[in-house]
Order: sequence, then C-alpha cells, then structure tokens
Amino acid sequence: MNKIIVEGLKYKYPLSDTLALNDLSFQVHEGEFIGIIGKNSAGKSTLCQALVGLVPHFYKGAYGGKVVVDGLEVKSHSIADVSLKVGMVFQNPFTQVTGSKMTVYEEIAFGLENSGLPRSEIIERIDYVLNLLKIEQVKDQNPFDLSGGQMQRMAIASIIAMKPDILVLDEPTSQLDPAGSEEVFTAIQNLSKQGITVILAEHKMEKVAQYCDRVLLLHDGKMVDLDSPEKIFSRQDLEEHGVVAPVYARVCKALGVKKAASDCYPVTLEDAEKALRGRLG
Ligand SMILES: Nc1ncnc2c1ncn2[C@@H]1O[C@H](COP(=O)(O)OP(=O)(O)OP(=O)(O)O)[C@@H](O)[C@H]1O
Ligand SMILES: [Mg+2]
Repeated sequence: MNKIIVEGLKYKYPLSDTLALNDLSFQVHEGEFIGIIGKNSAGKSTLCQALVGLVPHFYKGAYGGKVVVDGLEVKSHSIADVSLKVGMVFQNPFTQVTGSKMTVYEEIAFGLENSGLPRSEIIERIDYVLNLLKIEQVKDQNPFDLSGGQMQRMAIASIIAMKPDILVLDEPTSQLDPAGSEEVFTAIQNLSKQGITVILAEHKMEKVAQYCDRVLLLHDGKMVDLDSPEKIFSRQDLEEHGVVAPVYARVCKALGVKKAASDCYPVTLEDAEKALRGRLG
C-alpha cells in the first residue's frame, strides 16, 4: 500500500524566482525507509516540509501538484490534521522546542497531553522514548540547558512519543557525535521495522546506505532518481549532484569490485567485505 503519494509537486517560496521543488512525483510504500539526499539547497528540507503540510500552509508561495499522506491530501487539510499522521523532526532542534516548558519531561509530555491520552499511557510513552533516545538522565533539566545533541534527542523523542504512522526527519543527527548518531539511527530503524514509514533527509551517506531501503536524489529541486542505495551510489554522475558516495562504494569502485551478481558497487562495510573477500578468493 502507498503511504505517501507525490504527484507533479512544484513549489516556489514567496519572493523567490526559482522553484524549490520542481515537478516531483513518487510513491512510498507503508513501512519503507526512504533517504533524501542532495547537495545544500537541493530542496531536501522543503520536501520534508511539503510532506507535513508546512508547505503550503505555513510557507506560502506558489504551489502545484499534490501530496497525499495516508489518504489525506495535505493541501486541503490543516497542519493539525496532517500532524496526526505524520511527525516531523526539524533540521534545527531549537525550532522545535515549545519554549514554555521547564523540563525535558514536560516538553515531551506537551504533545501527548494535548492529544487527550490517559495519564498512565502518557507516562508509559514518555518512559519509553526517554529510554529509546537515552535521555533519562536529563529529564529534569531545562530544555534550553541541553547540549545540541541532547536537544536533538529530545526533539526526536517528543515526536516518536506521539506514535505517528509516518516519521519525517530532517538531518536528525546533525548535532550528534558518531556514537550518538548510531544510536539514533538504530532507534529509527527499530521503528521502521515495526511498520512506521520513515523519510529522512541526510548528508551522512554511510548512514543512508546502511539504513535506507530506497534513496531519493534531489538536485536543484528536481528528482534525479529514486532507487536502491546500491543503484544510487553506483551512478556515474554523483559528483555533478554534489554527492560523495559512501567510502565503501568509493574503495570498491577504485578497485573495480562489484557486488556479487550485480552491476553495482557495495555500499556498506558488510557488503564491501564480502565482495573483497570474493575477489581475493
Ligand atoms: N524560507 C525560505 N524562503 C525562501 N527560500 C528558501 C527558504 N528556505 C529555503 N529556501 C530556498 O529553497 C531552496 C531549497 O532549500 P532547502 O532548505 O530545502 O535545501 P536543502 O536541500 O534542505 O539544503 P541543506 O542541505 O542546506 O539543508 C534553496 O534555494 C533555498 O535557498
Ligand atoms: Mg535542509
């Protein structure tokens, strides 16, 4: 089943004379984990915002085509309606903080309390996400006293606590160190395995290759391709799109080693090791 349908999506910010999104069409199946990649200003964040309805409800401008999430056309529904289906974690976690809560715990509880859930369910969900994102130790701290990485985890926790069917994450680990990023990616992957549809804009190509089912390559607002990580990272024109393939793909390409029974280069450490061992006999 298609969880997200995008058809002929075009969008131009007010006062801009170029399209930030230029005629995008694609579908995402339920439970898929999709990576959005492309150089700076390719349109990744704008596409994320279009999936949750901030484009065109919050960011006005010229809009064409349609975005349907879980059967709901975002243009003809309010952001509040769409947000019941899709949760978004913003590129900058500071944008996401309510600014009115004294502790991390209250901050995460905010959305849940507004949804009218019973108190026991709220407590259970908060405990779950505090543990999932490893932020129990800061639960009584003021959100604005957190480090960038802790704030990013709190932003992700607040959204996951709402249990959306679709999760849109815009560079969710940009403030985290490698170990923290790995933990967050593993947590997101677990949610994806539970059937949640995940859309993730990301610059860390090794992570995209390791975790995503398919990768959408954007360039100047246009969709260049949407395919498996192996196919995308084996493209000859990556440099033109400002993308550097994962290091494993680059090493294998330099050595002329492809994935067994495929025309693509391995993109993960595991596959590269297998292919290299195969080459060495
Ligand atoms: N609020 C805005 N008003 C006007 N133009 C904007 C706005 N936000 C983004 N843009 C423009 O839209 C285009 C797409 O930007 P967007 O932020 O979606 O790219 P991105 O791929 O997320 O980039 P990055 O990798 O830097 O996060 C760029 O040309 C950018 O300058
Ligand atoms: Mg962005």
